Amino acid sequence: CGITGYIGERNAYPIVINGLKRLEYRGYDSAGIMMYDGSEMNLSKTKGKVSDLEVITNNDESRKKGKIGIGHTRWATHGVPNNVNSHPHFSQSGNLVIVHNGIIENYDTIRKELISRGYEFQSDTDTEVLVNLIEEVKRKEGCKLGKAVQLALTNVIGAYAIAVFDKTKPNELVVARLGSPIAIGVGENNEEFFVASDASPFIEFTKDAVYLEDGELAIIKKGRGIRVRKIDNDKPVDAKIQELKLNLDQIEKGGYDHFMLKEIYEQPKAITDTFRGRMLANEGIIRMAGIDDNISKFLNADRIIVIACGTSWHAGLVGEYLLEDMARIPVEVEYASEFRYRNPIITPKDVVIAISQSGETADTLAAIKLAKSKGAFVFGICNVVGSSIARETHAGAYTHAGPEIGVASTKAFTTQITILSLISLKLAQAKGTLSKTAVNKYLQTMQQIPNQVENLLKIDKEVQEIAYHYKDATNCLYLGRGFNFPVALEGALKLKEISYIHAEGYPAAEMKHGPIALIDENMPVFVIATRKGHYEKVVSNIQEIKSRSGKIIAIVTEGDETVKEIADHVIEIPETEEAFTPLLTTIPFQLLSYHIAVMLGKNVDQPRNLAKSVTVE
Ligand code: G6P
Repeated sequence: CGITGYIGERNAYPIVINGLKRLEYRGYDSAGIMMYDGSEMNLSKTKGKVSDLEVITNNDESRKKGKIGIGHTRWATHGVPNNVNSHPHFSQSGNLVIVHNGIIENYDTIRKELISRGYEFQSDTDTEVLVNLIEEVKRKEGCKLGKAVQLALTNVIGAYAIAVFDKTKPNELVVARLGSPIAIGVGENNEEFFVASDASPFIEFTKDAVYLEDGELAIIKKGRGIRVRKIDNDKPVDAKIQELKLNLDQIEKGGYDHFMLKEIYEQPKAITDTFRGRMLANEGIIRMAGIDDNISKFLNADRIIVIACGTSWHAGLVGEYLLEDMARIPVEVEYASEFRYRNPIITPKDVVIAISQSGETADTLAAIKLAKSKGAFVFGICNVVGSSIARETHAGAYTHAGPEIGVASTKAFTTQITILSLISLKLAQAKGTLSKTAVNKYLQTMQQIPNQVENLLKIDKEVQEIAYHYKDATNCLYLGRGFNFPVALEGALKLKEISYIHAEGYPAAEMKHGPIALIDENMPVFVIATRKGHYEKVVSNIQEIKSRSGKIIAIVTEGDETVKEIADHVIEIPETEEAFTPLLTTIPFQLLSYHIAVMLGKNVDQPRNLAKSVTVE
């Protein structure tokens, strides 16, 4: 989601609306604006893009009046994209208004508590719960807005960037952040302030910005200045003003050259957001409403059929290894396009898991309808909330990766695998196929993945050098075994998609049944040879390539010495459970494809002939 806000002496409307347009890359399923005209708050909001919002405001000039405004462009996390769920949201009294980016995990508990105190809710959002919690705290404590926001936030679990306005105190805005960004633009002599998810909405008005850190809250007073404090302990913080040096395009991409690179780097956060609120690693608890409510369907299933396309299909293959290994349920993984046309045998005892980042892929959608018509229970794993597939399935789980803009999928893949890991562990727990100790160990290991990915991303420079060596290759081979066989397929797909170099992924041992004929000194072979998982066998495969003069780039576990001796290049990944290695081994492949494509001057974010969401069969 994207947030904008303005308080000052200019008309706030064009600033907020144009700001929203610049933030639309953060999501664009609904948009809204609140304008305060000096006495009343005018709210305009709608499902759709900012241009749809403008149709409403253009029809009624009074909606554009005022020197204070806040706006929002939404990318749904709770509640489908519709007019009511769009932001801003008012509190019950109508005095407070909020825009929010993030997820409040414990919103349901707070909502019930507020309902018992007489609050009524218009929307399904966690945001409306938050604004009413602030109102309730303010009423009960008799405190000012800043304090009320602060106290309310100490009761909230989750991630947020918020901007709150109180019409009874119309000279101030309160903003706060935890996990989602907020920048404050500072006008001359503190006469005006801008608030936004990044600096792009205000770059032409001011170059001075204060970036809030996690756990900080700012009270912004027109004509007075900004006071920042820590949410949890009230300590004042020095509001450091930074001078903006980036241009507009760079800001939207978070300073990265391409959305793909930004999304690769977002993976630690995306994976965290995926398991946020779904597991308590130390207690061994996994909570996923879509599974919990339908657990008997899964436990009584004869088999699970996974259907998907493209990268999501690769995630499905990892899912097959996870589900069978942990939960001991037979799994088949099918391309949605094949499944729907081959007269498949489906019975009411089958559970279908459909995986789709966009939730709009035509073949996947049609395959779901077919499975439903045969009585199967269909569970969706989607990234886009309220998408067609999310609506068509009986139940599901969102990946919460945030919008993925680059056509080549990256963070969607790792978050899909994260969800599949959680599902596998949940089912293993319910079936007793893994001991309590084993489940706990897996959960604790999983919790470390975001940090490990973060550290792994530091090898970017190294990968860039490797990319330089192989950028002129015309063919590449990717090999992996077990959990990492699908990663080999995905690695090859990433390279094909954005650099247009022909690449193939293969199970390492299968190489000798064909691809080995292609190997000579011009053939780079990317091999996943992590210590756990058929290590010795993969080492033998590497020897076979070496003896045919192939170039070997191996992904190994930290501290590996054996492969280092044989391979031309090695990339180290940290130690983890074998089942979770795909979350790590895939990262160097993403970076490698990215750098090769950049070096070849290709359009990384919009490769030729491809589309982000394929809504035709
Ligand atoms: C297109 C995209 C791929 C994606 C595939 C499936 O081909 O370019 O990145 O993996 O569709 O999309 P879905 O949204 O269903 O995951």
